[in-house]
Amino acid sequence: MSIQRVMVVLVAFFHGLTAFALPSSTTSQALDSRSSMEPRAGADPNLTGYLGAFFLGADPFVYFYLSNGNDAISFKALNKGSPVVKPTKGTKGVRDPAIVSGGGAEAGKKWYIIGTDLNIGSTTWDAAQRTGSRGIFIWESTDLVTWTGERLVTVEDVTAGMVWAPEAIWDSGKGAYMVFWASKFYPSSDSSHKGSPSNTQIRYAYTSDFKTFSAPQTYIDKSPTDIIDLTILTLQDGSLLRFMKDESRKTVFVEASESGLFGNWTRAGGTLAIIQSGVEGPAAYLDNKAPGRVHLLLDFYGSDGYRPFESTNPGSNGGWTASSRTNFPSNLRHGSVLPINQTCYDALVKKWG
Ligand SMILES: *[C@@H]1O[C@H](CO)[C@@H](O)[C@H](O)[C@H]1NC(C)=O
Ligand SMILES: *[C@@H]1O[C@H](CO)[C@@H](O)[C@H](O)[C@H]1NC(C)=O
Ligand SMILES: *[C@@H]1O[C@H](CO)[C@@H](O)[C@H](O)[C@H]1NC(C)=O
Repeated sequence: MSIQRVMVVLVAFFHGLTAFALPSSTTSQALDSRSSMEPRAGADPNLTGYLGAFFLGADPFVYFYLSNGNDAISFKALNKGSPVVKPTKGTKGVRDPAIVSGGGAEAGKKWYIIGTDLNIGSTTWDAAQRTGSRGIFIWESTDLVTWTGERLVTVEDVTAGMVWAPEAIWDSGKGAYMVFWASKFYPSSDSSHKGSPSNTQIRYAYTSDFKTFSAPQTYIDKSPTDIIDLTILTLQDGSLLRFMKDESRKTVFVEASESGLFGNWTRAGGTLAIIQSGVEGPAAYLDNKAPGRVHLLLDFYGSDGYRPFESTNPGSNGGWTASSRTNFPSNLRHGSVLPINQTCYDALVKKWG
């Protein structure tokens, strides 16, 4: 993160404090009046495309998709539709690939792909949640084109039944990456995990190198509700949105915070407000051209995978509309999308196009 960006985030943060006590119905107006005093959200002339990383239903590997020009909902497969990354360790299958942008000294210099160690073709959904992998897959890159350094690092306690859908965000306050995932837990007396587990929670740990991680702790516990598939988006004004799946009701919803990762998260519309039901694996990204527009991919896991949605009031659960699917490939499953510049776009075409 550049000094300028840190300052924008700090200004937005203190700005956010003054708007903090507004009822949620006025939040969008508050955001609008703030953005007129600051760089307009989401429109960065240096960003001219999007890189998507996904897995495909029957194929638990990392597939790259590149936008057609600077169109946020039009994508084509790279590498002729073959995987760009295939794991050799653990279950030899990776789901839910997330591209993590470097922060601090690694900003603009380092990227990571992290993902779930799960090949469902060689296990069952029940076993995968009792004695599944407690590690996360990690690859790294200095250009987003070449990916190396595969590792599988255990992040969870022995009482955990699985570690699902890891993602990470640079926490500038901590000067480290906050990594988060979903786990459920068995009593320590039930070491073979045959009994009843806890609800599924979002857990987290910190790392500065994706090699060693702090001891895991609980981040989101909506007991008795099961929560999976958390993703966090930083808006250009520095406020945060977190999208997640209610695994009990099979819905995706969003919460907003103007006071940081461990701040006051509120769910616009109330505790049962949702964006969509029958979906999972939310992936959110800012539009490169349209100020304030956010795109959200929702995985229709019982049907044809990701479909794009969009909103200019992204902290609202009710403000999302379906985007055109004319140029959006079908059967892409839970992954992530990263806005990229032209240098990166051209390098990806050269290597994988
Ligand atoms: C675009 O890139 C140039 C060159 O790196 C940089 O000076 C400028 O601040 C960038 N603009 C934005 C809006 O990030
Ligand atoms: C959290 O935010 C909500 C909505 O903006 C507000 O009503 C509430 O007072 C805030 N809670 C705290 C502890 O600041
Ligand atoms: C463009 O993106 C690449 C990553 O692919 C990064 O290394 C480079 O610094 C970026 N260039 C500019 C001008 O932002």
